[in-house]
Amino acid sequence: MQHHTVIEPFRIKVVEPIRMTSTEEREIRLQEAHFNPFLLHSEDVLIDLLTDSGTSAMSAEQWAAIMRGDESYAGATSWLRLEKVIQDLTGCPYVLPTHQGRAAEHLLYTRIGGQGKIFFSNTLFDTTRANIEYSGATGIDLPAPESRDAGQWYPFKGNLDTTRLEAGIRESGPENVAAVILTVTNNSGGGQPVSMANAREVAAICRRYGVRFILDACRIAENAWFIHQREPGMSAMTCREIAQEMFRLADGCIMSAKKDALVNMGGFLALKDLELALQCRTVLIITEGYSTYGGLSGRDMEAMAQGLEEVFHHDYLHYRIHSTAYLEEKLIDMGIPMIQPAGGHAVYIDAGALYPHLPPHLYPGQALVCELYRLGGIRCCEIGSVMFGRYDQDGKLVPATRELVRLAIPRRVYTQSHMDYVIETFGGVLNRRDKVKGLRIDWEPPFLRHFTARFEEVPHS
Ligand code: F0G
Repeated sequence: MQHHTVIEPFRIKVVEPIRMTSTEEREIRLQEAHFNPFLLHSEDVLIDLLTDSGTSAMSAEQWAAIMRGDESYAGATSWLRLEKVIQDLTGCPYVLPTHQGRAAEHLLYTRIGGQGKIFFSNTLFDTTRANIEYSGATGIDLPAPESRDAGQWYPFKGNLDTTRLEAGIRESGPENVAAVILTVTNNSGGGQPVSMANAREVAAICRRYGVRFILDACRIAENAWFIHQREPGMSAMTCREIAQEMFRLADGCIMSAKKDALVNMGGFLALKDLELALQCRTVLIITEGYSTYGGLSGRDMEAMAQGLEEVFHHDYLHYRIHSTAYLEEKLIDMGIPMIQPAGGHAVYIDAGALYPHLPPHLYPGQALVCELYRLGGIRCCEIGSVMFGRYDQDGKLVPATRELVRLAIPRRVYTQSHMDYVIETFGGVLNRRDKVKGLRIDWEPPFLRHFTARFEEVPHS
């Protein structure tokens, strides 16, 4: 018999209770958190969709691997296992373990960046951009034109615009381009996938001009699933083979293991160039730890090695991408304005379109984030003018291109009934649509303000 219901391909061995709360209690918690869910305590959250990063449930095999962790300072068995798994996957001989993705970014981008250097990307993630700008270099996003069409289905909306890339490299002079970074999937661009054809074109342009090509590979397994499903001629390859092929095109990669390596902490930098690897390794030893553990303990490395194997299992990826699409489709059916199609790890709601009465300076995305917590105890994250807004010389807000809210789905953590609860909460969101108040920023730090900013509600005028 052919079944249509896609079940979670695991049984639950350990459970973590969720503390139930009332709307009244959550209203108080929201005010205490200054209308910024980053400031909430997690025990006050029912369904935490803030991020898919470091929030995965580990498998029995990963927990078993943790017991085998070898905590030797140098040359630990756990390191050798992890190094081999990463070498086989990425084709990069030189592997540098770090405590998370941004530590690897810091090692590489401060080394190859600096004043006058340029990085091109489909879209840089915010920590990637911050590391590039911190080095004095400039980061330029060149997303493919399809990415701007929020409501339209395209198979690979995460692609990089290769025409603009080539023009950009010529204009800047190839010697000034520190690297081209392809983020797979394209997180800030809606979790959309990048095609193999696009990666091949990027690689060819980079080779032609002698420019370094780096993959930001933290969701490469999810990206491989989309290629397997959507790209002509690719369905005969396994997702792991597709990922290997993509890695083969690049000169190196950075991976936050907190996503597709199914662990709670970890990351790595892997390179093909020995000289560059040695330079980065020196900084690794100064700032993270000795080269055979970086910022990690032996047990972390065991869990990561195991996770990197498990994440490519066909049944896992089928369920994973299906569960994201399930949430997306139900919300579209209800008339919630969404970025389409669903990304791999998250769905993105267009809060600007949901709340047309709230202009960007009243932060419609943040208003929706607060509303989801108030009505359902759901925590999620604004990706709009709170995160990306800037001020001009007169102190006026220059808004982000879109006022989005991201519901990121932790791996193997929530079941379909949790998602049904989220969908039901959106019914309440729609009912109160016109009543929702905007927010004003009461206090903000100079960098990455979305984490700690404090807000006040603005009464309707
Ligand atoms: N690159 C991408 C594409 C990311 O999404 C992240 C993290 C990083 C790099 C940095 O990795 O957190 O291990 O230092 N993204 C998380 C998120 C925080 O919620 O999307 P990290």
